[in-house]
Amino acid sequence: MKEASMIQTGQKISARNVQVCYGDSPAIRGVSVDIAPNTVTAFIGPSGCGKSTFLRCLNRMNDTIDICRVSGDIRIDGEDIYDRRVDPVQLRAKVGMVFQKPNPFPKSIFDNVAYGPKIHGLTRSKAELAGVVENALRKAALWDEVKDRLGSAGTALSGGQQQRLCIARAIATSPEVLLMDEPCSALDPIATAQIEELIDDLRQNFCVVIVTHSMQQAARISQKTAFFHLGSLVEYGDTDQIFTAPHDPRTESYITGRIG
Ligand SMILES: Nc1ncnc2c1ncn2[C@@H]1O[C@H](COP(=O)(O)OP(=O)(O)OP(=O)(O)O)[C@@H](O)[C@H]1O
Ligand SMILES: [Mg+2]
Repeated sequence: MKEASMIQTGQKISARNVQVCYGDSPAIRGVSVDIAPNTVTAFIGPSGCGKSTFLRCLNRMNDTIDICRVSGDIRIDGEDIYDRRVDPVQLRAKVGMVFQKPNPFPKSIFDNVAYGPKIHGLTRSKAELAGVVENALRKAALWDEVKDRLGSAGTALSGGQQQRLCIARAIATSPEVLLMDEPCSALDPIATAQIEELIDDLRQNFCVVIVTHSMQQAARISQKTAFFHLGSLVEYGDTDQIFTAPHDPRTESYITGRIG
């Protein structure tokens, strides 16, 4: 498949010829992709193929890894996010991230969600902050379970609740893009179903990019799927097409369980 055919215009995120190396070892080679707004895009592929590495390029989380070098061009709404004038901390408020293991701060439920709006000065009064926290917890489908104990420790919640708390924390700064790296891998099927339902709702407000090892999950929740293999983006398209009529034999092998 030619690279040019993977590129469409009018999208939220545009990556062109992205390369990533850890020291001398290349991890991502020449990836170009456009990611649509109000869409869930799934990144799939075998372990070590570079899904997390590429995801971390999209909010410059790789900047925090000393030996990691990123080149190429990544734009969000046309703005080069690697431009020297871009503050990575501001960028990460706009491009939020949820990790594989729920990682609430050792703070109260309220303070976990209030943290971002506070450090970014997004609210002017306590009442306004309380409103932002409530709204984020509602969107993360956690409000009803925690509204009577906002002062308790976030770490005292169940795993699935902690992950929804981390989602609430990520959306409290009103990001435009939400990056999720295997957000359900530590969760049971019930919590997973709740998070999946939530991701589908989030699509109304955000551009969601999710890494998943579960092809059933990718098929259930995403509209677009990108298949990575050995650091390259092999195939990208409508999820239905990728799972029913993949163009590349490597994609077909992966989705039918022959590689990975
Ligand atoms: N911090 C790091 N330092 C050095 N090499 C790294 C680092 N993180 C990832 N790599 C290497 O980059 C390559 C891609 O790794 P990455 O974690 O992006 O893969 P992945 O597709 O997310 O895999 P998985 O499905 O197992 O999470 C691998 O060869 C990995 O060893
Ligand atoms: Mg990974």
